[in-house]
Amino acid sequence: MPTAHLTIDPGAVVGAVNRRLFGSFVEHLGRCVYDGIYEPGHPTSDANGFRGDVVELVKELGVSAIRYPGGNFVSGYRWEDGVGPREQRPRRLDLAWHSTETNEVGLDEFATWLERVGSELMYAVNLGTRGVQEALDVLEYANIRSGTRLSDWRIANGRTEPHRVGIWCLGNEMDGPWQLGHGTADEYGALAAKTARAMRQIDPHIELVVCGSSSAQMPTFGTWERTVLEHTYDDVDYISCHAYYEPADGDVDSFLASAVNMDGFIETVVAVADEVKASKRSDKTINISFDEWNVWYMQRHLAEEKITDIEHWPVAPRLLEDSYSLLDAVVFGSLLISLLKHADRVTSASLAQLVNVIAPIMTEPGGPAWRQTIFFPFAETSRLAGGEALALTLRSDTHLTGQYGEVNLVDAAATHATGATAIFLVNRSTTDPAEVTIDVSALGDVAVASARTLSDSDLSAANTLDHPERVALADNNSVLLSNGVLTITLPPVSWTALSVTSN
Ligand code: AHR
Repeated sequence: MPTAHLTIDPGAVVGAVNRRLFGSFVEHLGRCVYDGIYEPGHPTSDANGFRGDVVELVKELGVSAIRYPGGNFVSGYRWEDGVGPREQRPRRLDLAWHSTETNEVGLDEFATWLERVGSELMYAVNLGTRGVQEALDVLEYANIRSGTRLSDWRIANGRTEPHRVGIWCLGNEMDGPWQLGHGTADEYGALAAKTARAMRQIDPHIELVVCGSSSAQMPTFGTWERTVLEHTYDDVDYISCHAYYEPADGDVDSFLASAVNMDGFIETVVAVADEVKASKRSDKTINISFDEWNVWYMQRHLAEEKITDIEHWPVAPRLLEDSYSLLDAVVFGSLLISLLKHADRVTSASLAQLVNVIAPIMTEPGGPAWRQTIFFPFAETSRLAGGEALALTLRSDTHLTGQYGEVNLVDAAATHATGATAIFLVNRSTTDPAEVTIDVSALGDVAVASARTLSDSDLSAANTLDHPERVALADNNSVLLSNGVLTITLPPVSWTALSVTSN
Protein backbone atom coordinates (compact mmCIF):
# COMPACT_ATOMS: atom_id res chain seq x y z
CA MET A 1 0.00 0.00 0.00
CA PRO A 2 1.42 3.46 -0.88
CA THR A 3 2.24 5.55 2.16
CA ALA A 4 2.67 9.20 3.02
CA HIS A 5 3.79 10.98 6.14
CA LEU A 6 3.18 14.54 7.14
CA THR A 7 4.09 16.70 10.08
CA ILE A 8 1.92 19.51 11.31
CA ASP A 9 3.82 22.43 12.82
CA PRO A 10 1.53 25.29 13.82
CA GLY A 11 4.54 27.61 13.79
CA ALA A 12 5.30 26.95 10.11
CA VAL A 13 2.93 29.53 8.67
CA VAL A 14 2.48 30.13 4.94
CA GLY A 15 0.02 32.98 5.39
CA ALA A 16 -3.43 33.90 6.66
CA VAL A 17 -6.34 32.20 4.91
CA ASN A 18 -8.32 35.04 3.35
CA ARG A 19 -12.07 34.27 3.28
CA ARG A 20 -12.06 35.61 -0.26
CA LEU A 21 -10.36 32.33 -1.27
CA PHE A 22 -13.84 30.82 -1.12
CA GLY A 23 -15.36 33.07 -3.74
CA SER A 24 -17.38 32.11 -6.78
CA PHE A 25 -18.55 33.58 -10.06
CA VAL A 26 -21.94 34.38 -11.59
CA GLU A 27 -21.89 35.32 -15.27
CA HIS A 28 -24.79 36.21 -17.53
CA LEU A 29 -24.15 33.00 -19.46
CA GLY A 30 -26.57 30.21 -20.29
CA ARG A 31 -28.77 29.40 -17.28
CA CYS A 32 -26.51 30.73 -14.52
CA VAL A 33 -28.65 33.81 -13.79
CA TYR A 34 -31.93 33.09 -15.64
CA ASP A 35 -33.39 29.70 -14.58
CA GLY A 36 -30.48 29.48 -12.12
CA ILE A 37 -30.50 32.01 -9.31
CA TYR A 38 -33.52 33.85 -10.81
CA GLU A 39 -36.77 32.17 -11.78
CA PRO A 40 -39.93 34.15 -11.04
CA GLY A 41 -42.79 31.76 -10.54
CA HIS A 42 -40.67 28.94 -9.15
CA PRO A 43 -42.40 27.53 -6.02
CA THR A 44 -39.44 28.61 -3.83
CA SER A 45 -38.94 32.08 -5.37
CA ASP A 46 -39.25 35.29 -3.36
CA ALA A 47 -40.93 38.52 -4.44
CA ASN A 48 -37.76 39.45 -6.37
CA GLY A 49 -37.88 36.21 -8.37
CA PHE A 50 -34.89 34.59 -6.64
CA ARG A 51 -35.09 30.86 -6.01
CA GLY A 52 -35.04 30.08 -2.29
CA ASP A 53 -33.70 26.54 -2.79
CA VAL A 54 -30.68 27.96 -4.65
CA VAL A 55 -30.12 30.59 -1.94
CA GLU A 56 -30.01 27.83 0.68
CA LEU A 57 -27.51 25.77 -1.32
CA VAL A 58 -25.28 28.80 -1.95
CA LYS A 59 -25.25 29.47 1.79
CA GLU A 60 -24.40 25.84 2.50
CA LEU A 61 -21.58 26.03 -0.05
CA GLY A 62 -20.03 28.82 2.04
CA VAL A 63 -19.24 31.29 -0.72
CA SER A 64 -17.53 34.57 0.20
CA ALA A 65 -17.18 37.09 -2.67
CA ILE A 66 -19.00 36.52 -5.98
CA ARG A 67 -17.56 37.88 -9.22
CA TYR A 68 -20.20 39.37 -11.55
CA PRO A 69 -21.44 39.89 -14.31
CA GLY A 70 -18.73 38.13 -16.37
CA GLY A 71 -16.63 36.59 -17.83
CA ASN A 72 -16.59 37.04 -21.58
CA PHE A 73 -20.09 38.52 -21.30
CA VAL A 74 -18.83 41.65 -19.54
CA SER A 75 -16.69 42.72 -22.48
CA GLY A 76 -19.83 43.68 -24.43
CA TYR A 77 -22.04 44.66 -21.49
CA ARG A 78 -23.66 48.05 -20.84
CA TRP A 79 -24.31 48.12 -17.10
CA GLU A 80 -26.95 50.86 -17.45
CA ASP A 81 -29.18 48.40 -19.37
CA GLY A 82 -29.61 46.40 -16.17
CA VAL A 83 -30.85 49.14 -13.83
CA GLY A 84 -34.08 51.09 -13.57
CA PRO A 85 -37.65 49.96 -14.29
CA ARG A 86 -37.60 46.43 -15.71
CA GLU A 87 -40.15 47.13 -18.41
CA GLN A 88 -37.88 49.82 -19.87
CA ARG A 89 -34.77 47.68 -20.00
CA PRO A 90 -33.54 46.81 -23.48
CA ARG A 91 -32.99 43.33 -24.80
CA ARG A 92 -29.49 43.12 -26.24
CA LEU A 93 -27.31 40.77 -28.22
CA ASP A 94 -24.77 38.93 -26.09
CA LEU A 95 -21.97 38.37 -28.60
CA ALA A 96 -19.82 36.28 -26.25
CA TRP A 97 -22.41 33.51 -25.94
CA HIS A 98 -24.57 34.20 -29.01
CA SER A 99 -27.61 34.78 -26.80
CA THR A 100 -30.19 37.45 -26.02
CA GLU A 101 -29.69 39.29 -22.74
CA THR A 102 -33.05 40.39 -21.35
CA ASN A 103 -31.50 42.54 -18.60
CA GLU A 104 -34.15 41.45 -16.10
CA VAL A 105 -31.34 41.08 -13.57
CA GLY A 106 -28.68 43.75 -13.17
CA LEU A 107 -26.47 45.31 -10.54
CA ASP A 108 -29.21 46.28 -8.06
CA GLU A 109 -31.01 42.93 -8.19
CA PHE A 110 -27.75 41.01 -7.91
CA ALA A 111 -26.72 43.10 -4.88
CA THR A 112 -30.10 42.30 -3.30
CA TRP A 113 -29.56 38.59 -3.95
CA LEU A 114 -26.06 38.80 -2.42
CA GLU A 115 -27.55 40.25 0.75
CA ARG A 116 -29.77 37.17 0.97
CA VAL A 117 -26.91 34.73 0.51
CA GLY A 118 -24.51 36.75 2.69
CA SER A 119 -21.76 37.17 0.07
CA GLU A 120 -19.70 40.15 -1.09
CA LEU A 121 -19.90 41.62 -4.61
CA MET A 122 -16.79 41.54 -6.81
CA TYR A 123 -17.72 43.61 -9.86
CA ALA A 124 -16.07 43.44 -13.29
CA VAL A 125 -16.11 46.50 -15.55
CA ASN A 126 -16.17 46.31 -19.33
CA LEU A 127 -12.77 47.16 -20.80
CA GLY A 128 -13.58 45.36 -24.05
CA THR A 129 -16.02 47.64 -25.86
CA ARG A 130 -15.95 50.39 -23.22
CA GLY A 131 -13.40 52.26 -21.14
CA VAL A 132 -12.57 54.76 -18.40
CA GLN A 133 -15.82 56.76 -18.46
CA GLU A 134 -18.15 53.79 -18.16
CA ALA A 135 -16.04 52.31 -15.34
CA LEU A 136 -16.30 55.64 -13.52
CA ASP A 137 -20.03 55.74 -14.11
CA VAL A 138 -20.77 52.34 -12.63
CA LEU A 139 -18.50 53.08 -9.67
CA GLU A 140 -20.33 56.37 -9.04
CA TYR A 141 -23.68 54.58 -9.31
CA ALA A 142 -22.57 51.83 -6.91
CA ASN A 143 -20.46 53.57 -4.29
CA ILE A 144 -21.38 57.28 -4.04
CA ARG A 145 -23.94 57.91 -1.33
CA SER A 146 -26.06 60.62 -3.01
CA GLY A 147 -26.19 64.05 -4.59
CA THR A 148 -24.94 63.22 -8.09
CA ARG A 149 -26.80 62.17 -11.18
CA LEU A 150 -25.76 58.51 -11.02
CA SER A 151 -25.96 58.04 -7.24
CA ASP A 152 -29.38 59.70 -7.25
CA TRP A 153 -30.42 57.41 -10.09
CA ARG A 154 -29.57 54.42 -7.89
CA ILE A 155 -31.67 55.93 -5.09
CA ALA A 156 -34.54 56.53 -7.51
CA ASN A 157 -34.22 52.85 -8.45
CA GLY A 158 -34.93 51.92 -4.84
CA ARG A 159 -31.41 51.48 -3.47
CA THR A 160 -30.98 54.19 -0.84
CA GLU A 161 -27.69 52.87 0.52
CA PRO A 162 -24.61 52.62 -1.71
CA HIS A 163 -23.57 49.10 -2.67
CA ARG A 164 -20.05 49.78 -1.34
CA VAL A 165 -18.40 47.40 -3.80
CA GLY A 166 -14.90 46.85 -2.43
CA ILE A 167 -13.21 44.82 -5.15
CA TRP A 168 -13.32 45.46 -8.92
CA CYS A 169 -11.96 43.55 -11.92
CA LEU A 170 -10.51 45.64 -14.74
CA GLY A 171 -12.08 43.70 -17.60
CA ASN A 172 -11.91 39.98 -18.28
CA GLU A 173 -9.35 37.76 -20.05
CA MET A 174 -8.09 40.61 -22.19
CA ASP A 175 -5.18 38.40 -23.35
CA GLY A 176 -7.61 36.10 -25.18
CA PRO A 177 -8.19 36.61 -28.93
CA TRP A 178 -11.83 35.51 -28.32
CA GLN A 179 -12.42 38.50 -26.06
CA LEU A 180 -14.32 41.50 -27.43
CA GLY A 181 -11.79 44.34 -27.48
CA HIS A 182 -8.77 42.04 -27.08
CA GLY A 183 -5.49 43.84 -27.74
CA THR A 184 -1.81 43.63 -26.92
CA ALA A 185 -0.50 43.59 -23.35
CA ASP A 186 0.73 47.16 -23.87
CA GLU A 187 -2.67 48.35 -25.09
CA TYR A 188 -4.55 46.66 -22.27
CA GLY A 189 -1.96 47.61 -19.62
CA ALA A 190 -2.20 51.30 -20.57
CA LEU A 191 -6.03 51.22 -20.51
CA ALA A 192 -6.14 49.32 -17.20
CA ALA A 193 -3.72 51.79 -15.57
CA LYS A 194 -5.75 54.81 -16.75
CA THR A 195 -8.98 53.20 -15.58
CA ALA A 196 -7.53 52.21 -12.21
CA ARG A 197 -6.18 55.70 -11.51
CA ALA A 198 -9.48 57.29 -12.51
CA MET A 199 -11.55 54.89 -10.40
CA ARG A 200 -9.36 55.59 -7.36
CA GLN A 201 -10.09 59.31 -7.81
CA ILE A 202 -13.70 58.45 -6.98
CA ASP A 203 -13.03 55.81 -4.31
CA PRO A 204 -9.47 55.45 -3.01
CA HIS A 205 -10.43 52.44 -0.89
CA ILE A 206 -11.40 50.03 -3.66
CA GLU A 207 -9.20 47.03 -4.46
CA LEU A 208 -8.45 46.42 -8.13
CA VAL A 209 -7.70 43.26 -10.10
CA VAL A 210 -5.85 43.52 -13.41
CA CYS A 211 -6.20 40.74 -15.99
CA GLY A 212 -3.42 38.18 -16.10
CA SER A 213 -3.46 35.17 -18.41
CA SER A 214 -6.50 33.09 -19.34
CA SER A 215 -4.40 29.99 -18.73
CA ALA A 216 -0.78 29.00 -18.26
CA GLN A 217 -0.96 27.54 -21.80
CA MET A 218 -1.50 30.92 -23.48
CA PRO A 219 1.39 31.73 -25.86
CA THR A 220 1.77 35.11 -24.14
CA PHE A 221 1.78 33.65 -20.60
CA GLY A 222 4.49 35.35 -18.55
CA THR A 223 5.26 38.18 -20.92
CA TRP A 224 1.62 39.30 -20.69
CA GLU A 225 1.85 39.52 -16.88
CA ARG A 226 5.18 41.35 -16.98
CA THR A 227 4.03 43.97 -19.50
CA VAL A 228 0.63 44.52 -17.88
CA LEU A 229 2.20 44.91 -14.43
CA GLU A 230 4.87 47.28 -15.76
CA HIS A 231 1.95 49.56 -16.73
CA THR A 232 -0.21 49.02 -13.66
CA TYR A 233 1.99 47.98 -10.72
CA ASP A 234 1.35 51.10 -8.62
CA ASP A 235 -2.36 51.22 -9.41
CA VAL A 236 -3.67 47.68 -8.78
CA ASP A 237 -3.71 45.17 -5.93
CA TYR A 238 -4.14 41.83 -7.68
CA ILE A 239 -3.32 40.13 -10.95
CA SER A 240 -5.77 37.44 -12.06
CA CYS A 241 -5.14 33.81 -13.00
CA HIS A 242 -7.69 31.58 -14.76
CA ALA A 243 -7.36 27.80 -15.13
CA TYR A 244 -9.69 24.99 -16.16
CA TYR A 245 -8.72 21.33 -16.17
CA GLU A 246 -10.02 18.25 -17.98
CA PRO A 247 -8.62 14.82 -18.86
CA ALA A 248 -6.68 14.71 -22.14
CA ASP A 249 -6.82 11.48 -24.19
CA GLY A 250 -8.23 9.54 -21.23
CA ASP A 251 -5.04 10.11 -19.17
CA VAL A 252 -6.60 9.90 -15.69
CA ASP A 253 -3.27 9.95 -13.81
CA SER A 254 -2.31 13.29 -15.36
CA PHE A 255 -5.81 14.67 -14.80
CA LEU A 256 -5.53 13.72 -11.12
CA ALA A 257 -2.23 15.64 -11.00
CA SER A 258 -3.75 18.87 -12.44
CA ALA A 259 -2.85 20.72 -9.24
CA VAL A 260 0.82 20.40 -10.24
CA ASN A 261 -0.02 22.71 -13.13
CA MET A 262 -1.91 25.06 -10.81
CA ASP A 263 1.03 25.13 -8.36
CA GLY A 264 3.41 26.03 -11.20
CA PHE A 265 1.02 28.63 -12.61
CA ILE A 266 0.76 30.41 -9.26
CA GLU A 267 4.49 30.24 -8.57
CA THR A 268 5.34 31.62 -12.03
CA VAL A 269 2.94 34.55 -11.68
CA VAL A 270 4.32 35.31 -8.20
CA ALA A 271 7.86 35.27 -9.64
CA VAL A 272 6.92 37.64 -12.48
CA ALA A 273 5.05 40.00 -10.12
CA ASP A 274 8.01 40.07 -7.75
CA GLU A 275 10.40 40.68 -10.63
CA VAL A 276 8.38 43.76 -11.62
CA LYS A 277 8.31 44.77 -7.95
CA ALA A 278 12.11 44.57 -7.81
CA SER A 279 12.56 46.43 -11.09
CA LYS A 280 10.36 49.23 -9.77
CA ARG A 281 12.02 49.14 -6.34
CA SER A 282 8.51 49.01 -4.94
CA ASP A 283 7.52 48.20 -1.35
CA LYS A 284 4.16 46.99 -2.51
CA THR A 285 3.36 43.31 -3.18
CA ILE A 286 0.85 42.28 -5.83
CA ASN A 287 -1.21 39.23 -4.92
CA ILE A 288 -3.19 36.81 -7.06
CA SER A 289 -6.91 36.74 -7.63
CA PHE A 290 -7.46 33.22 -9.03
CA ASP A 291 -10.81 34.38 -10.23
CA GLU A 292 -11.76 31.50 -12.53
CA TRP A 293 -10.87 27.91 -11.66
CA ASN A 294 -12.59 24.57 -12.01
CA VAL A 295 -12.78 21.34 -13.95
CA TRP A 296 -14.36 22.13 -17.34
CA TYR A 297 -14.88 19.73 -20.25
CA MET A 298 -13.92 22.49 -22.65
CA GLN A 299 -12.93 20.22 -25.55
CA ARG A 300 -16.44 18.73 -25.49
CA HIS A 301 -17.86 22.25 -25.54
CA LEU A 302 -15.59 23.35 -28.40
CA ALA A 303 -16.56 20.28 -30.44
CA GLU A 304 -20.30 21.00 -30.10
CA GLU A 305 -21.97 22.66 -33.02
CA LYS A 306 -22.37 26.34 -32.12
CA ILE A 307 -25.37 28.50 -32.93
CA THR A 308 -23.99 31.24 -35.14
CA ASP A 309 -27.19 31.88 -37.05
CA ILE A 310 -27.94 35.62 -37.24
CA GLU A 311 -31.67 34.80 -36.96
CA HIS A 312 -31.30 32.85 -33.73
CA TRP A 313 -30.22 34.45 -30.40
CA PRO A 314 -31.76 32.31 -27.64
CA VAL A 315 -32.54 33.52 -24.13
CA ALA A 316 -30.72 31.56 -21.40
CA PRO A 317 -29.85 28.48 -23.51
CA ARG A 318 -28.37 25.39 -21.85
CA LEU A 319 -24.65 26.11 -22.20
CA LEU A 320 -21.61 24.56 -20.48
CA GLU A 321 -23.81 22.38 -18.24
CA ASP A 322 -21.10 19.89 -17.30
CA SER A 323 -22.20 17.00 -15.09
CA TYR A 324 -19.37 16.32 -12.64
CA SER A 325 -18.20 12.85 -11.67
CA LEU A 326 -16.52 11.59 -8.53
CA LEU A 327 -13.20 11.76 -10.40
CA ASP A 328 -13.81 15.42 -11.28
CA ALA A 329 -14.59 16.22 -7.64
CA VAL A 330 -11.33 14.65 -6.44
CA VAL A 331 -9.35 16.73 -8.96
CA PHE A 332 -11.38 19.76 -7.88
CA GLY A 333 -10.53 19.07 -4.21
CA SER A 334 -6.85 18.86 -5.11
CA LEU A 335 -7.10 22.31 -6.76
CA LEU A 336 -8.44 23.68 -3.47
CA ILE A 337 -5.38 22.13 -1.79
CA SER A 338 -3.16 24.01 -4.25
CA LEU A 339 -4.93 27.32 -3.51
CA LEU A 340 -4.53 26.79 0.26
CA LYS A 341 -0.85 25.92 -0.11
CA HIS A 342 -0.36 29.34 -1.71
CA ALA A 343 -2.57 31.29 0.69
CA ASP A 344 0.19 33.85 1.26
CA ARG A 345 -0.15 35.09 -2.33
CA VAL A 346 -3.50 33.79 -3.55
CA THR A 347 -5.72 35.97 -1.41
CA SER A 348 -8.83 35.87 -3.59
CA ALA A 349 -10.27 33.11 -5.77
CA SER A 350 -13.52 32.42 -7.60
CA LEU A 351 -14.88 28.98 -8.35
CA ALA A 352 -16.24 29.30 -11.90
CA GLN A 353 -19.16 29.21 -11.90
CA LEU A 354 -21.94 28.91 -9.32
CA VAL A 355 -25.21 27.64 -10.83
CA ASN A 356 -25.85 25.46 -13.93
CA VAL A 357 -22.83 26.70 -15.92
CA ILE A 358 -19.79 24.51 -14.99
CA ALA A 359 -21.28 24.68 -11.53
CA PRO A 360 -21.55 23.02 -8.12
CA ILE A 361 -25.31 23.68 -8.08
CA MET A 362 -27.77 22.57 -10.77
CA THR A 363 -31.42 23.50 -11.22
CA GLU A 364 -34.39 22.50 -13.33
CA PRO A 365 -36.98 25.13 -14.24
CA GLY A 366 -39.99 24.60 -11.98
CA GLY A 367 -38.13 21.67 -10.45
CA PRO A 368 -35.45 20.90 -7.90
CA ALA A 369 -31.94 22.19 -7.26
CA TRP A 370 -29.16 19.77 -6.34
CA ARG A 371 -25.51 19.52 -5.37
CA GLN A 372 -23.00 18.30 -7.95
CA THR A 373 -20.02 16.22 -6.74
CA ILE A 374 -17.71 19.27 -6.71
CA PHE A 375 -20.03 20.94 -4.19
CA PHE A 376 -18.70 18.77 -1.36
CA PRO A 377 -14.95 19.54 -1.31
CA PHE A 378 -15.72 23.25 -1.65
CA ALA A 379 -18.31 23.37 1.14
CA GLU A 380 -16.16 21.28 3.49
CA THR A 381 -13.01 23.32 2.86
CA SER A 382 -14.86 26.62 3.20
CA ARG A 383 -16.36 25.38 6.49
CA LEU A 384 -13.17 24.00 8.02
CA ALA A 385 -10.25 26.08 6.69
CA GLY A 386 -9.40 29.04 8.87
CA GLY A 387 -6.67 30.97 10.59
CA GLU A 388 -3.39 30.35 8.82
CA ALA A 389 -2.29 27.96 6.10
CA LEU A 390 0.66 25.83 7.24
CA ALA A 391 3.79 24.73 5.40
CA LEU A 392 3.72 20.95 5.71
CA THR A 393 6.57 18.51 5.71
CA LEU A 394 5.18 15.88 3.34
CA ARG A 395 6.86 12.65 2.27
CA SER A 396 4.79 10.60 -0.14
CA ASP A 397 5.25 7.67 -2.48
CA THR A 398 5.18 8.84 -6.07
CA HIS A 399 4.10 7.64 -9.50
CA LEU A 400 4.82 8.64 -13.07
CA THR A 401 2.31 10.69 -15.06
CA GLY A 402 2.34 11.43 -18.78
CA GLN A 403 1.96 15.18 -18.42
CA TYR A 404 3.71 16.05 -15.17
CA GLY A 405 6.40 13.38 -14.72
CA GLU A 406 6.81 11.97 -11.21
CA VAL A 407 4.20 13.28 -8.78
CA ASN A 408 3.28 12.57 -5.16
CA LEU A 409 0.47 10.05 -4.82
CA VAL A 410 -0.77 11.94 -1.78
CA ASP A 411 -0.99 15.70 -1.64
CA ALA A 412 -2.07 17.73 1.38
CA ALA A 413 -2.70 21.18 2.85
CA ALA A 414 -3.50 22.24 6.40
CA THR A 415 -4.78 25.30 8.20
CA HIS A 416 -4.55 26.17 11.87
CA ALA A 417 -6.48 28.53 14.11
CA THR A 418 -6.44 28.48 17.91
CA GLY A 419 -7.73 25.06 18.93
CA ALA A 420 -8.78 24.03 15.41
CA THR A 421 -6.66 22.43 12.72
CA ALA A 422 -7.98 21.27 9.36
CA ILE A 423 -6.08 18.85 7.12
CA PHE A 424 -7.03 18.25 3.50
CA LEU A 425 -5.75 15.18 1.66
CA VAL A 426 -5.98 13.68 -1.80
CA ASN A 427 -5.03 10.17 -2.90
CA ARG A 428 -4.25 10.22 -6.63
CA SER A 429 -3.75 6.48 -7.01
CA THR A 430 -6.40 4.89 -9.22
CA THR A 431 -5.60 1.41 -7.89
CA ASP A 432 -4.47 1.53 -4.25
CA PRO A 433 -5.59 2.95 -0.97
CA ALA A 434 -2.90 5.08 0.70
CA GLU A 435 -1.98 4.94 4.35
CA VAL A 436 -1.14 8.37 5.74
CA THR A 437 0.48 9.07 9.09
CA ILE A 438 0.23 12.62 10.43
CA ASP A 439 2.41 13.81 13.27
CA VAL A 440 0.18 16.19 15.23
CA SER A 441 2.23 16.09 18.46
CA ALA A 442 3.11 19.80 18.12
CA LEU A 443 -0.60 20.63 18.57
CA GLY A 444 -0.69 19.32 22.16
CA ASP A 445 -3.68 17.34 23.36
CA VAL A 446 -5.74 16.60 20.25
CA ALA A 447 -9.05 14.98 19.37
CA VAL A 448 -10.49 14.17 15.95
CA ALA A 449 -13.66 16.20 15.46
CA SER A 450 -14.46 14.81 12.02
CA ALA A 451 -12.90 12.84 9.16
CA ARG A 452 -14.92 12.79 5.95
CA THR A 453 -13.97 11.33 2.60
CA LEU A 454 -15.29 11.65 -0.94
CA SER A 455 -14.75 8.42 -2.86
CA ASP A 456 -16.66 5.83 -4.87
CA SER A 457 -15.89 2.53 -6.54
CA ASP A 458 -17.35 4.07 -9.72
CA LEU A 459 -15.21 7.05 -10.77
CA SER A 460 -17.95 8.22 -13.11
CA ALA A 461 -20.59 8.36 -10.34
CA ALA A 462 -22.44 11.70 -10.45
CA ASN A 463 -25.43 13.45 -8.92
CA THR A 464 -28.16 13.99 -11.47
CA LEU A 465 -31.78 15.14 -11.65
CA ASP A 466 -32.87 11.51 -11.25
CA HIS A 467 -30.26 10.61 -8.61
CA PRO A 468 -29.40 13.88 -6.87
CA GLU A 469 -27.82 12.22 -3.84
CA ARG A 470 -25.79 9.44 -5.45
CA VAL A 471 -22.44 10.95 -4.31
CA ALA A 472 -21.75 12.60 -0.93
CA LEU A 473 -19.07 12.83 1.75
CA ALA A 474 -18.97 9.89 4.16
CA ASP A 475 -17.31 9.43 7.54
CA ASN A 476 -13.86 7.88 7.24
CA ASN A 477 -13.80 5.41 10.10
CA SER A 478 -10.20 4.31 9.51
CA VAL A 479 -8.77 7.25 11.44
CA LEU A 480 -6.76 6.36 14.56
CA LEU A 481 -4.97 8.60 17.05
CA SER A 482 -2.10 7.28 19.14
CA ASN A 483 0.77 9.13 20.87
CA GLY A 484 0.33 12.31 18.87
CA VAL A 485 0.17 10.51 15.52
CA LEU A 486 -2.93 10.20 13.38
CA THR A 487 -3.24 7.34 10.93
CA ILE A 488 -5.83 7.36 8.17
CA THR A 489 -6.46 5.25 5.09
CA LEU A 490 -7.46 7.09 1.93
CA PRO A 491 -9.36 5.05 -0.67
CA PRO A 492 -8.07 5.18 -4.27
CA VAL A 493 -9.09 8.43 -6.04
CA SER A 494 -10.37 10.16 -2.96
CA TRP A 495 -10.44 13.53 -1.22
CA THR A 496 -10.57 13.81 2.57
CA ALA A 497 -10.99 16.58 5.16
CA LEU A 498 -9.90 16.01 8.75
CA SER A 499 -10.83 18.37 11.55
CA VAL A 500 -8.73 18.18 14.70
CA THR A 501 -9.32 20.09 17.93
CA SER A 502 -6.57 20.81 20.45
CA ASN A 503 -6.07 22.56 23.75
O1 AHR B 1 -16.39 30.63 -17.21
C1 AHR B 1 -16.66 30.52 -18.58
C2 AHR B 1 -15.78 31.44 -19.41
O2 AHR B 1 -14.45 31.02 -19.28
C3 AHR B 1 -15.74 32.89 -18.98
O3 AHR B 1 -16.75 33.65 -19.53
C4 AHR B 1 -14.41 33.34 -19.51
O4 AHR B 1 -13.84 34.37 -18.74
C5 AHR B 1 -13.56 32.09 -19.52
O5 AHR B 1 -12.93 31.90 -20.73
